[in-house]
Amino acid sequence: MTAGEGPGGAAGARAADWALATRAVHAGMSPDPATGAIVPPLVTTSIYAHDHPAPYSYGRDHNPTWERLEEALSELESGAGAVVFGSGMAALSAAVATVPLGGTVVAPADSYTGLRRLLGELEAAGRLRVRLVQSADTEAVARACGGAQLVCLETLTNPLLRVPDIAAVVAAAHAAGARCLVDNTFATPIGCRPLSFGADIVVHSASKYLGGHSDLVLGAVVAGSAELAETLRVYRTDHGAIPGQLEAWLALRGLRTLALRVPRQMASAAWLATRLEADPRVVRVHHPALPGHPDHDRAQRQLPAGFGGVISMELHGTADDAEAVCRGTRLWSHATSLGGVESTLERRARWPGDDHLPPSLLRLAVGIEDREDLLDDLVGALDRVGAAGGQD
Ligand SMILES: Cc1ncc(COP(=O)(O)O)c(C=O)c1O
Repeated sequence: MTAGEGPGGAAGARAADWALATRAVHAGMSPDPATGAIVPPLVTTSIYAHDHPAPYSYGRDHNPTWERLEEALSELESGAGAVVFGSGMAALSAAVATVPLGGTVVAPADSYTGLRRLLGELEAAGRLRVRLVQSADTEAVARACGGAQLVCLETLTNPLLRVPDIAAVVAAAHAAGARCLVDNTFATPIGCRPLSFGADIVVHSASKYLGGHSDLVLGAVVAGSAELAETLRVYRTDHGAIPGQLEAWLALRGLRTLALRVPRQMASAAWLATRLEADPRVVRVHHPALPGHPDHDRAQRQLPAGFGGVISMELHGTADDAEAVCRGTRLWSHATSLGGVESTLERRARWPGDDHLPPSLLRLAVGIEDREDLLDDLVGALDRVGAAGGQD
């Protein structure tokens, strides 16, 4: 690329040939037409001049900073168009709203609790019907697809990190006349690009890895067709589910380092999973990098760049012991969420939608710190709690 040419400029046609690491830096990055600024400006206006050639009118309809982020996300996910929302839940709600009244949605029984709660509320209100399935069980998902309009998957489920067979589920969904939505929050486009497996809609909570610094809440949908992207854009305007301008700008900046952060987080998670599995205070570690994980082979095919940066592990001992381990670390922040540069951990059964999980199951979201320091910190916390190796 010659100086001054950006992905949206004269060299744009070649963007598809660039490696993802290059695209993460350059996507949505053509110089600002008004000033030549290389870093896209943060545009905070709510009103635009009527007598101006730019096609903008009001801040709930358009924003150039959102559009930069949308261009970048669409490019990274190889989509036909992206629409950013005020949160990952707003993005999921918009996608679910494409299902007609009385329609059926298939979703993972172990999906993010927010999706299950939303679907449960919509079902209770008579808006739609919901079928929850184990999404890694392709046969079970295929059986549930009949008569459905939307089949939801997560690239990696939360917190047991199960891996559905996206292409097989897409085939079953399409045979039933349903769309397939994949929440790609845990894998990011660095780990997996579900549209390339035939999925129709990709959803992200950009509050996690895309933003990457735990300083914003934002969501996005990337659609496989321009028509669906437009439907979702109209929904956003009409429902007012818009993101903040600063959040969009921060997420765009976060994308620039995605290809540095995520592979490191994934590699550290795989390394930690192996070490933790050998600790006598640990009953079981869930991470698809482990050969004993039920979806290890599928994950190797579907997530070739790594197995995700989240691990969960069940400890010997009680829920109180597990809580004490969370409070006893110095590097790992005792907090929910994932995808930031700093590592976090929490006991998952503390949340109402996840209270069926083993009481001592911890979810660890690995940051970019030194992996030996992270392991030492965890082992130190386990030592201080005196979690009893080999006992329950
Ligand atoms: C997989 C997944 N999808 C969606 C969401 C919702 O995202 P947000 O918190 O940005 O609304 C989350 C939040 O934790 C999540 O983990």
